[in-house]
Amino acid sequence: QPPIARHTRSLAAILGEFRKHKERIAFVPTMGALHRGHLSLVEVAKAHAERVVVSIFVNPKQFAPTEDLDTYPRTELADVEALSKAGVDAIYMPDAGDMYPEGYQTTVTVPEVAKPLDGASRGPGYFAGIATVVLKLFNQVRPDAAVFGEKDYQQLLVIRRMVRDLNLDIDIIGAPIIRESDGLAMSSRNQYLSDEERNIAGWLSNVMRDTTALLRTGADPEAALAKGIEGLKSGGLAPVDYFELRRDPTLELVTSPVAPEDWATVRLFAAVMLGRTRLIDNMAVSE
Ligand code: PAJ
Repeated sequence: QPPIARHTRSLAAILGEFRKHKERIAFVPTMGALHRGHLSLVEVAKAHAERVVVSIFVNPKQFAPTEDLDTYPRTELADVEALSKAGVDAIYMPDAGDMYPEGYQTTVTVPEVAKPLDGASRGPGYFAGIATVVLKLFNQVRPDAAVFGEKDYQQLLVIRRMVRDLNLDIDIIGAPIIRESDGLAMSSRNQYLSDEERNIAGWLSNVMRDTTALLRTGADPEAALAKGIEGLKSGGLAPVDYFELRRDPTLELVTSPVAPEDWATVRLFAAVMLGRTRLIDNMAVSE
């Protein structure tokens, strides 16, 4: 089993050993309830550094008061076991009281990138909470590289912007979305789905693939997106929170037909409700 640090002091001791040997450190921040998507990030991290550090911290600052902080799945024993099997070199599991002690007040915001999509639907505190905790974790771990999943594409863009803006010397590596066999993007929150909901959840990626295929024929985005939204609703994926076409990495809206040379950099972003569970997904027009 890899060493587990629950405080910055023990973390620093573990990292000190790695640095003494001049080993590169790649970092994978998570909120636990680990699945194959998270473990794929560990594999990407291993390819970029001699040492891989994974954090598990359910960050209260990125949950709105109405959201699922109290019921967010916590599976610490299984997570540690999965990370041991995956061969990570250290696990960091800080305590909320240590991360945000009495008197804590600093927040990092990346306002433009955080504005649309999940920033609009989950509120301005969402990406501020993420940027803040990720910067704190970066300062505690001081990694050479950090890996983020494209599952949360806007989060990846927020982190890239923050790293550039604040001159952090960390390579930010994006890793592809890992999906279930029916196309559903893996997520810790998929555990919330009932059997019946799980059966229709894969429909989201189906509709998205149909929509990107239609866009590749040169279709007008407005018409293609409207058709996709109808498809989502008729398949039971409603309300649709957003179903939008945006440019990478600025997230500006795309309203004209997408030329082939832009297929890789224009992405379809979706968020839908399925019962009480919110599903998000994204893919490039080229996919
Ligand atoms: P969490 O939702 O646990 O996700 C941790 C990392 O795993 C993120 O980079 C996310 O994009 C990636 N990930 C999740 N599902 C994935 C999938 N199906 N395929 C590929 N990668 C996937 O994202 C967070 O935690 C938090 O916001 C965090 C960055 C840890 C800050 O609190």
